[in-house]
Amino acid sequence: MPAAKKKPVDKFTFGLWTVGWQARDPFGDATRRALDPVEIVENLAKLGAYGVTFHDDDLIPFGSDDKARRKHVDRFKKALAATGMKVPMATTNLFTHPVFKDGAFTSNDRDVRRFALRKVMRNLDLAAELGAETYVFWGGREGAEYDGAKDVRVALDRFREAMNTLTGYCKERGIAIRFALEPKPNEPRGDILLPTIGHALAFIETLEHKEMVGLNPEVGHEQMAGLNFVHGIAQALWHGKLFHIDLNGQRGIKYDQDLVFGHGDLVSAFFLVDLLESAGYAGPRHFDYKPSRTEDLDGVWQSAAANMRMYRLLRERAAAFRADREVQQAMKQARIPELAQPTLKKGETIAQLLADKSAYETFDADKAGAGGSGYVRLQQLAVEHLMGAR
Ligand code: GCO
Ligand code: MN
Ligand code: MN
Repeated sequence: MPAAKKKPVDKFTFGLWTVGWQARDPFGDATRRALDPVEIVENLAKLGAYGVTFHDDDLIPFGSDDKARRKHVDRFKKALAATGMKVPMATTNLFTHPVFKDGAFTSNDRDVRRFALRKVMRNLDLAAELGAETYVFWGGREGAEYDGAKDVRVALDRFREAMNTLTGYCKERGIAIRFALEPKPNEPRGDILLPTIGHALAFIETLEHKEMVGLNPEVGHEQMAGLNFVHGIAQALWHGKLFHIDLNGQRGIKYDQDLVFGHGDLVSAFFLVDLLESAGYAGPRHFDYKPSRTEDLDGVWQSAAANMRMYRLLRERAAAFRADREVQQAMKQARIPELAQPTLKKGETIAQLLADKSAYETFDADKAGAGGSGYVRLQQLAVEHLMGAR
């Protein structure tokens, strides 16, 4: 296969486990053959992706000895070099093997927790070797089905201990990598620890090297909890904690669908891209989706291309929305720019606010409460741009 060397303009990345998913689900067998990581790298490069990401076990089968491990890594590195593909992120599989059935960092079994730490350390070394900047922690098995099964406060102690040990490991080894926690409310566990962006942000503040730890939020995971993903991302950005992002599609509160980006809540996807672009988010646009079980391999590559096309189209539509004079006027009428103005005057004291009769005594609340905001008109303009109707 000819190497695709042209430099991609967009930092679009895919996990080996996304296009490589064989579509095994709780009710049915695989519908597609296994893909070789080298084949994935080559195909994604041809489609114009920037890079790939992986779990240790996606690349090196669980239980491989050092010699086999080296062979897998070297083949992969050769494919990366030939295609120019990067590895901006790596992560650990702490969920497939039965040993992790009760969690990894928070398993009640201490030996399992120690094994988990060692498994992560081993893959951190590889992540560093491949030049990854971000290391993701998705704690899919960190949780429980029953409230009596685990003392959650103690489990959080162990989760924190794991994070502190692993940031310490990186510091000791001179590994310059940032950690990104990926929240998810449930699935595969009945309830997962650190279920949302907000829970994870609060947890990070308690860590020893909290500056090294941020988030990798996933579209569908917040939406599974009925939360507004755009708001969640805005808050993560506001805290300076959006280290990475998993883009995909989800339709409502149900099982984790991992659809193509934009194939779920399209209006939310529009405002998400608008936010990422206007906030100057510089990290990878990582697609963590699953090509539907109904698709053959042609469908897999088409769906991979669809993710990138959706992002580009949404970016184009969002830019047109922002540039539209009528939109700008509607935003002004809706007083959107006014929110950027601090509520108190520069240097204004509490005494001065209390002395300002126009702020309270003579303030006409009825008049101020009577006007319309025009947000519906603004939303209509957004949707018309999204539909290509303007
Ligand atoms: C999910 C998760 C996973 C993780 C990935 C990284 O869909 O439940 O997104 O795909 O992101 O496994 O560990
Ligand atoms: Mn998911
Ligand atoms: Mn994910």
